[in-house]
Amino acid sequence: MAKIVVIDDEPAMVEVIVTLCREKGHQVFPFNAPSKAIEQLDAIQPEVVITDIKMETMNGFDVLRHVREHQRQTSVILITAFGSAETAVQAMKMGARDYILKPFKIDELQTRIQMALDYQAAVGEVTYLRKELKEKHKLENIIGTSGKMQHVYNLISKVADTDSTVLIVGESGTGKELVARGLHFNSNRQHHPFVAINCSALPENLLESELFGHKKGSFTGAVADKRGLFEEANLGTIFLDEVNSMAPPLQTKLLRVLQEREVRRVGDNKSSPVNVRVIGATNERLQPKLKDGTFREDLYYRLAVIPIEIPALRERLEDVPLLVNHFLQKQASATGGEPKKIDPVAVDILCHYNYPGNVRELENAIERACALCENDLILPTDLPPHIVDHAHDSKTEQAIANMPVGLTLDEFVQQQERNYIEATLSHCDGAREKAANMLGISMATLYRKIEPKKK
Ligand SMILES: Nc1ncnc2c1ncn2[C@@H]1O[C@H](COP(=O)(O)OP(=O)(O)OP(=O)(O)O)[C@@H](O)[C@H]1O
Ligand SMILES: [Mg+2]
Repeated sequence: MAKIVVIDDEPAMVEVIVTLCREKGHQVFPFNAPSKAIEQLDAIQPEVVITDIKMETMNGFDVLRHVREHQRQTSVILITAFGSAETAVQAMKMGARDYILKPFKIDELQTRIQMALDYQAAVGEVTYLRKELKEKHKLENIIGTSGKMQHVYNLISKVADTDSTVLIVGESGTGKELVARGLHFNSNRQHHPFVAINCSALPENLLESELFGHKKGSFTGAVADKRGLFEEANLGTIFLDEVNSMAPPLQTKLLRVLQEREVRRVGDNKSSPVNVRVIGATNERLQPKLKDGTFREDLYYRLAVIPIEIPALRERLEDVPLLVNHFLQKQASATGGEPKKIDPVAVDILCHYNYPGNVRELENAIERACALCENDLILPTDLPPHIVDHAHDSKTEQAIANMPVGLTLDEFVQQQERNYIEATLSHCDGAREKAANMLGISMATLYRKIEPKKK
């Protein structure tokens, strides 16, 4: 059901339209005086305004102008008995959704109203999706407070709103695509396309026609002209993922596009300009490839105008608790309901792992744990066993590494014993009798053991 305002100084006409709209289940607000209607528009917030053009007191174009200025989401349908091509063009130019000539068939008006409402729904959906997209790509969604991540943020916020070419370097799962999207959706290109392509996913010739397009007949299978992704991304951003895997002949072509800012389709003899921001990503350092000649040095410098290095998760384990929280929230919003809780011991285990799969591996572990856990509390047993084992091993290793070496076994045992007695005493707030009881020894033994050693 939609809200529809109908304005015509001819009561019979209003009557017809109102009946028609009510039949369709809409809520109708009829007016004979345009000025009265305008006063009410803000309160009504209609989806559609249907107004006559020629009225005694006010022109339908004035209504249109008012709506365009004040109720920008509302569609206006103009109706007139004195139509001409010029008035139709003027109506559309001024932002009318539709223009109908009197006399019209009931069916026709009904269809036009439905079209306006469909358009309205589509606009609403686009607005909603844009908002959601923006929400999803907020820079705050890139989690991490470690010094290394702070450095990454600083770079991102400095270069997001520029046209600089960026090369993102990082191991698999470190968030390269997240950063690329963050850059695009926080730039002034955000309402234009973000086009991502994985350069390792296609054989060389297919990748070439994918990137630059082709002319019909330029090779077997090229049955029609095809726009390439650079053209698709015009005014927006192209993300060349795993650009390190691009074959040298294609590197040469990419270099030309970056230098000339124009693309030539495969099989074409003319180029056309493109306005695209380029972001590349690589999961290996390119320096060795520059040395052995498998990656063009000049292309490297074109791409890495701003290099952004994303640290591996194992180099910033202090970010793990924040990431865990973030993924618990993300899971909750994906499945509905409250975020699950996690036992501190489980968090500690997660902080002692080396994450060869980086943030993606942590995210998967949390997703798995959310599915497995009972009573909405994640316990160590809900974590992947290899993570638990690794944490255990690394803690044991750490403990071994921290052990004093050079003592006799007796000296070491005595030292440990003293430490343990002191811990128990402190637990008992210094109450020696209670501590002795807990330790299962007599008071005399306790005194003897904590007395400073006489040499
Ligand atoms: N700093 C971060 N904060 C929040 N989520 C992150 C972060 N880094 C990565 N992620 C999440 O981890 C997953 C992997 O990230 P992404 O796909 O961007 O990695 P990648 O570097 O492109 O990996 P690959 O090299 O395998 O393509 C995504 O779900 C992403 O949202
Ligand atoms: Mg990726």
